[in-house]
Amino acid sequence: MLELFPEGFEEVDRPEGVELAAYTDAAGEERLWAFFGGARGADVAGGWEDKWRAFHRPVRVGRLWVGPPWETPPADALAVVVDPGRAFGTGSHATTQLCLQTLQELEPASLLDVGCGSGVLSIAAALLGFSPVLAVDVEEPSIAATIDNARANGVHVDARLVGGDEVLPSASVAVANISLESVEALPRRIDAQTLVTSGYFASAQPALAGFEHVRRATLDGWASDVFRSAKP
Ligand SMILES: C[S@@+](CC[C@H](N)C(=O)[O-])C[C@H]1O[C@@H](n2cnc3c(N)ncnc32)[C@H](O)[C@@H]1O
Repeated sequence: MLELFPEGFEEVDRPEGVELAAYTDAAGEERLWAFFGGARGADVAGGWEDKWRAFHRPVRVGRLWVGPPWETPPADALAVVVDPGRAFGTGSHATTQLCLQTLQELEPASLLDVGCGSGVLSIAAALLGFSPVLAVDVEEPSIAATIDNARANGVHVDARLVGGDEVLPSASVAVANISLESVEALPRRIDAQTLVTSGYFASAQPALAGFEHVRRATLDGWASDVFRSAKP
């Protein structure tokens, strides 16, 4: 379900077991059938796409605060105001928080954000002094959300739609909060001195050709790793 609906799904305890529900359209229902060989569908009232907004709560990660436009950031925080629209990235997911923490531990330099979603990591990086910041994603709504959110936060982020296997422009630091499979394909796509990865469970250990593992952090069963290029 996480792979099919990374933007979120519902988990409900029922007497007969746990029920997993995705709020989706016909294409999403087809993906469920293709993957699980079956699913029970029911029509829901209009507006479900935006109901998640009620659950969009601010998070604090070190100096950074990430929250929706309708909340007030604390005065001592570096505020990242995010309205994700239909894109992933309210800041609340453990993998996003792990990346936000790591960005604060790195020396600001040029940055490539692979799988930008709402643009939360790109905007945080720009506020932390990373420049230039290039955000890429395979989904058009993510590019639109990143452009809108960067503008609302008064930072400059170049956002581009890319193919899932496309070779990407080089940067000193690359951050990628994507699936394990996409993380493991990164050495073919990127040229970066430092690579921050996340998007997988702590049980996974991505092996990246041409990179040395530097350190790992975990939160709520999710992991994030820092790699350094093995190139001299
Ligand atoms: C888990 S979300 C991360 C969003 C945001 N960066 C964050 O940390 O909250 C992953 C994003 O990566 C995008 N994505 C998935 N596979 C990708 C690939 N191969 N190349 C670029 N983007 C990809 C998805 O469309 C999605 O927006």
